[in-house]
Amino acid sequence: MHTDFESLIVGPNDLILVTGASGFIGFRLVERLLDRGFRNIRCFARPSGKVGKLESLCEGRARDGVRAEVFQGNLLSREDCTSATKDAAVIFHLAAARGEKSTANAFLNSVVTTRNLLDAAREHGSLRRFVGISSFSVYSNQHKTRRRLLDESSPIESHPELRGEAYCFAKVKLDELVSEYGQKLGLPYVIVRPGYVYGPGNLGISGNRHVRPVSSPWRFQHDSPHVRRQLPGRHYVGRFEEGSRGQCVQRGG
Ligand SMILES: NC(=O)c1ccc[n+]([C@@H]2O[C@H](COP(=O)([O-])OP(=O)(O)OC[C@H]3O[C@@H](n4cnc5c(N)ncnc54)[C@H](OP(=O)(O)O)[C@@H]3O)[C@@H](O)[C@H]2O)c1
Repeated sequence: MHTDFESLIVGPNDLILVTGASGFIGFRLVERLLDRGFRNIRCFARPSGKVGKLESLCEGRARDGVRAEVFQGNLLSREDCTSATKDAAVIFHLAAARGEKSTANAFLNSVVTTRNLLDAAREHGSLRRFVGISSFSVYSNQHKTRRRLLDESSPIESHPELRGEAYCFAKVKLDELVSEYGQKLGLPYVIVRPGYVYGPGNLGISGNRHVRPVSSPWRFQHDSPHVRRQLPGRHYVGRFEEGSRGQCVQRGG
């Protein structure tokens, strides 16, 4: 698969860190980066995750100078974050809580973890792009009176604490945190807000992200200009083109 490195802010040998690398999307993102010719990838995964499959992928591609390593740790540990972000030019931050346990759990594993990662990356000074993976769930159609279509023109949920969805709350806070680091501290970031991502390994649509059948007041537009069904991982590879800094991007899955 050809990659035009001239148009990117990183070359094939620059270090790319992927968090949540053993997860549904993260694993495919790592595959795609390798397919695209990136040769230096650090895959952050919790020891509890499905690390075996990721290790097999990395070992299988570790030839001809390709460095793909699995870094086992927990983003709640500042030390792990410091070690993992060393020399990273791009961070694809996918690790997150699914929001199924509690708000505290979602906050810890989506927001506190992100803060740890950002602080660690800033220590090293090598970061050229932080790609924060958020979610379509940050939008609200509560005040739409007709059709109640939920798409990227919808406003961001202003009171996520009242919505009763730990996942939405954590993602809104994550976006605020990343934007604040961008505005106040000059963090070069992009926020990606995928819709539902499905495919082998995740065939169902979970109930925690306010999609209801089309006959309900909630409607979700998958074919809007920015939201198209694509294979998992495909959209994120291009998030470090020149000029995309500071954008929020919506992506379907
Ligand atoms: N799938 C979708 O439809 C969808 C839609 C919109 C946005 N997103 C976002 O896209 C990203 C990836 O989604 P996904 O479907 O691939 O989720 P996933 O399969 O649940 O992967 C998330 C990964 O994050 C890891 N993680 C959680 N807490 C961590 C911590 N404290 N330290 C290190 N790693 C931690 C998990 O590790 P363990 O394996 O150990 O639990 C898991 O591997 C997430 O940010 C998600 O919110 C997904």
